Amino acid sequence: MNERIAYLLNDQINKELYSAYLYLDIANHYDDLDLDGYANYYMIQAQEERDHALLFMKYMQNNGLKVTLEAIDKPDKILDGVIGPLEIAAEHERYVTALINNIYHEAHQDKDYRTMKFLDWFVDEQMEEEENADKMISRYKLFGGDPRGLYLLDQEYAARAYTAPSLVL
Ligand code: FEO
Repeated sequence: MNERIAYLLNDQINKELYSAYLYLDIANHYDDLDLDGYANYYMIQAQEERDHALLFMKYMQNNGLKVTLEAIDKPDKILDGVIGPLEIAAEHERYVTALINNIYHEAHQDKDYRTMKFLDWFVDEQMEEEENADKMISRYKLFGGDPRGLYLLDQEYAARAYTAPSLVL
């Protein structure tokens, strides 16, 4: 495999683990606000990000590539109020989409169809993650201003349960 693609795949492991770290930080923020449902939502989001990291790791291993784990950055976003972290999360997902698109672009340039096929799952996943992140913002804007509305939203997010990724390598 092209060295640049191998580098980007390895780097994506770090980016996904950073995403998990960021979402744990957001979960802690909501826990501090006693919004347990929002905290639950982001705890699960963090688990999903760890799953993403493991999928990149497994793909590299399956292709005989050496995995090098690097230091994970400290989550340093300023988390403020209820809507602030939702906006940070949505912006972060767009950043991750750009990273996936960039690897896809490199794989396409190199006619690395195997990596493109692997990344297809992440392309779909990013669409879903951006949509969900945007929806959390719009629903907060619609209902969150009213304490009862916020309570019901929090209850709904408390019901989110973890499901393992549909991609198995
Ligand atoms: Fe692994 Fe939310 O991107």
